[in-house]
Amino acid sequence: MLYRAMRPFLFGLDPEVAHRLSLVSLDTLQRLGLARLVAGTVPKLPVRTMGLEFPNPVGLAPGLDKNGEHIDALASLGFGFMEIGTVTPSPQPGNAKPRLFRLPQAEAVINRMGFNNIGVDRVVENVRRSRYRGIIGINISKNADTPVDRAAEDYLVCLRKVYPVASFVTANVSSPNTRNLRSLQGADELDALLAVLMRERDALAREEGRCVPLAVKIAPDLDDEAIESIADRLLAHRVDAVIATNTTTARQDVAHLPHGGEQGGLSGAPLRAKSTALIAKLGSALKGRIPIIGVGGIASAADAREKLDAGATLVQLYTALLYRGPGLVGEIVRGLAAPGEK
Ligand SMILES: Cc1cc2nc3c(=O)[nH]c(=O)nc-3n(C[C@H](O)[C@H](O)[C@H](O)COP(=O)(O)O)c2cc1C
Repeated sequence: MLYRAMRPFLFGLDPEVAHRLSLVSLDTLQRLGLARLVAGTVPKLPVRTMGLEFPNPVGLAPGLDKNGEHIDALASLGFGFMEIGTVTPSPQPGNAKPRLFRLPQAEAVINRMGFNNIGVDRVVENVRRSRYRGIIGINISKNADTPVDRAAEDYLVCLRKVYPVASFVTANVSSPNTRNLRSLQGADELDALLAVLMRERDALAREEGRCVPLAVKIAPDLDDEAIESIADRLLAHRVDAVIATNTTTARQDVAHLPHGGEQGGLSGAPLRAKSTALIAKLGSALKGRIPIIGVGGIASAADAREKLDAGATLVQLYTALLYRGPGLVGEIVRGLAAPGEK
């Protein structure tokens, strides 16, 4: 309710300023011990998958807390797991501003942030400093100035550094805002990358005596053949999970809206059906052998249920938090726990 009152003010600000202000306010609420009031009662709805026990299946999608600077505050909203990043080996500023656009008529966002982040070392420090002891995924990728044919080196640097503090690690090969990154979803490219990453993950597991699951995050803009080929590679390399999906480069439902023609990735309501359809196809191709984390346009318990029914084991969300407010997480978990009740 409070968020609904604040929304016109926040939406009057530049989106990146509003974003920072919201997170800083949430940090303050958390320090005062009030953030849990926003979440309300969040029932237990445990899910066991990827060798981990999730208190509920609703997670934070990466991109909101790229640097792991707000982990405790965001966790207090009731998420069953958190994913931070995307993080790259070296710090980088990301693309020129403006690079984040609201499309309120569609409850959508277009972003071309370009992996702005403070670099893997400082992000690892932030995770170590947080008090959160729940499940934390760290999403990794390559720096903008690393040629795509040397991408594996950047993923390896990040994997080694985040490994000790992560509950799971996600290799992001699907952002539309880093040139050629999505080419890593091609059969040969993915094969080469996964061979290197899984070998390193297995070596780290032996060294550390703890196996950290490795997930791959894919785009929604894939045809049936590409989905089959990706599923085939994921199975061959025994990847632990797949996250579907990232933002879309398609614009058919929003092209007529202000900012609808901006370059970048579209997220929120217009992505929902497309990502659910991909999850369903991916699910049949994987035959239940690799868990899917479903993400894209979830704004209610019914939307989360749609992804679970399509074959996802867990879900994540981001954009709907901007439109519906931070109380949404608890609302979705309550809705999943007690279907039929309002
Ligand atoms: C502003 C913004 C930044 C994002 N940054 C990242 C990122 O750094 N890494 C990533 O894997 N996904 C990123 N995403 C994609 C989200 O994690 C998610 O896959 C996508 O937005 C679809 O979910 P949603 O409709 O619930 O937002 C970003 C999304 C937005 C809106």
